[in-house]
Amino acid sequence: MRKDLLGIGDLSAEEIYLVLDTAEAMREIGQRPIKKVPTLRGRTVVNLFYEPSTRTRTSFEIAEKRLSADTLNIAVAASSVLKGETLADTARNIEAMAPDVIVLRHEASGAGHLLSRICRSRIINAGDGMHEHPTQALLDAFTIREHKKRIEGLKVVIVGDLLHSRVLRSNVLLLTKLGADVWICGPATLIPPGMAPLGVRVSTSVDEAVAGADVIMLLRIQHERMHGAFFPSVREYFNTFGMTAARVARARPDVIIMHPGPMNRGVEIASEVADGPYSVILEQVANGVSVRMSVLYLLAGGQDGD
Ligand code: CP
Repeated sequence: MRKDLLGIGDLSAEEIYLVLDTAEAMREIGQRPIKKVPTLRGRTVVNLFYEPSTRTRTSFEIAEKRLSADTLNIAVAASSVLKGETLADTARNIEAMAPDVIVLRHEASGAGHLLSRICRSRIINAGDGMHEHPTQALLDAFTIREHKKRIEGLKVVIVGDLLHSRVLRSNVLLLTKLGADVWICGPATLIPPGMAPLGVRVSTSVDEAVAGADVIMLLRIQHERMHGAFFPSVREYFNTFGMTAARVARARPDVIIMHPGPMNRGVEIASEVADGPYSVILEQVANGVSVRMSVLYLLAGGQDGD
């Protein structure tokens, strides 16, 4: 395995399958009465989150603890970042205390690449701006494979705010690499340029996109990244693109419904779908722990940490 996990774009299909297969073994640890193994004993992992997070930060910390790493969470709001310290200087100061891994979430695309250049520690990208969120795509693939026993040939439809989504980018890169038939769907104003060459089908009709789908993945409207009006109103967005039970009925009878969270109920997804029989949304969250254990083990679990 490489030194850092910065994006799905860097990984081969073989490396992706290695992470997924290792996550299967890691899941078994979480089912034991004592959910702990000594694999990362003596290793120090710093979780450095510049943006809010519930699922990613919590599941990384649980994964680290299950592997017996010494874990440290840096609350940026209570750090010297507020006094104007740059990301690079913050990273150099953390490095001076000799951690083995830094898990970074940052609002700037490429923040992990910057740390990768200046840090000896292994860097795991936990979401960088609108660029990538690799562990989310890996846990999504793990969840899809668990239900469908394969990824190749599945029709996977991703609906929502495509323009501002790092989850979209990582999922498109991963799912196309593994041979899925990927469709993306949203208002024309929220479709990023340059998607078709990545091998995806682009549609502005949700009814067309979800027809015969094996997997429907909803993405949140990211109001915090929007500067301007991308659609007339939330009500119109829900009417045109919101995932309702009637729309789900156009998909295959064994469709699964996914969402990386946090959800905006009544915007991109109706509660009847989020909490309905096809939803695997909370399974995604549970699988996040196993997949992040897998990534930590593969990056930092070697005899010498290399
Ligand atoms: N999916 C995801 O990244 O959720 P959080 O922002 O809560 O970590």
